[in-house]
Amino acid sequence: MARIAYINGRYLPLSMAAVPIEDRAFLFADGVYEVCEVREGALIDEERHLKRLARSLRELRIAAPLGDGAIGTILREVVRRNRVRDGMVYLQITRGVAKRNHAFPAAGTAPTVVATAYASDPAAIDRKAAAGISVMTVPETRWARVDIKTVSLLPNVLARQAALEAGKSDAWFVNAAGEVTEAAASNAWIVTGGAEVVTAPADDGVLRGVTRMVLIDHLAANGLRLVERRFSLDEALGAKEAFMTSATSAVLPVVNIDGRPIGDGKPGPVSRQLRTLLRSSPARSAPYAGALRDTRSDVIP
Ligand code: PDD
Repeated sequence: MARIAYINGRYLPLSMAAVPIEDRAFLFADGVYEVCEVREGALIDEERHLKRLARSLRELRIAAPLGDGAIGTILREVVRRNRVRDGMVYLQITRGVAKRNHAFPAAGTAPTVVATAYASDPAAIDRKAAAGISVMTVPETRWARVDIKTVSLLPNVLARQAALEAGKSDAWFVNAAGEVTEAAASNAWIVTGGAEVVTAPADDGVLRGVTRMVLIDHLAANGLRLVERRFSLDEALGAKEAFMTSATSAVLPVVNIDGRPIGDGKPGPVSRQLRTLLRSSPARSAPYAGALRDTRSDVIP
């Protein structure tokens, strides 16, 4: 089955879905994106992802090309056409296509809208979470506005690659003050000896992770003590537990940082409890209930 992408009003086989070379995202990484988990065919935390998308667009002064309802329909349709039951759906909106010039293009330039869907293997992610992962730290080299979910991810790419080449699963960024900011594509957390569940404030050089926000709600509901504050790498190395959160892997325990075991070197009880809570909470949006159509490329209104 050919994979299908949505691009500017059309559903096309991936091989035919192309963006012009003058697209602002290709030239300047001038675009924003969202990654939404798909579980049992449903979009998880759709509303929160769309809210963050609207914020990212606003911060970059890109006019929203579609309403939330239309975007939701497109995301579901891409999921359905690719027959993704578990995995993720990717949405990207760029400032559009214009002759190369750093300044914004003329008002009215249409943003580019692209969506794709990918299947994952939930059992493989579960196995990874059960074992816990090792991470290495890398210097924080990103720009100051990582709260905006832009496609400008080169430092994240280099960090993940460096970690993989060092035999680790991921990288954690550490800023000049010795504080952990976040992971290459996840928010970072620790559990202290005092049973505080700690993560950096969302206004402080970290992305406003949707999973992070959902987890914060779970913490309160389960009597766990959340503290939003910066934490140092030294504190993380001495923590009882460490973990990270994202739409693609929920809660992922971290059992080793820079070759040093965290706690007893196994996923701790709080991380495991939080993963179970997130994974077992009912799908946080309804599965696609639209009419079943064939999967030929067509134009949507
Ligand atoms: N990444 N921090 C960074 C830098 C991220 O890229 C992500 C998500 C997160 C977690 O956010 P959320 O809980 O909303 O997924 C934190 C996605 C999954 C990605 O780029 O693939």
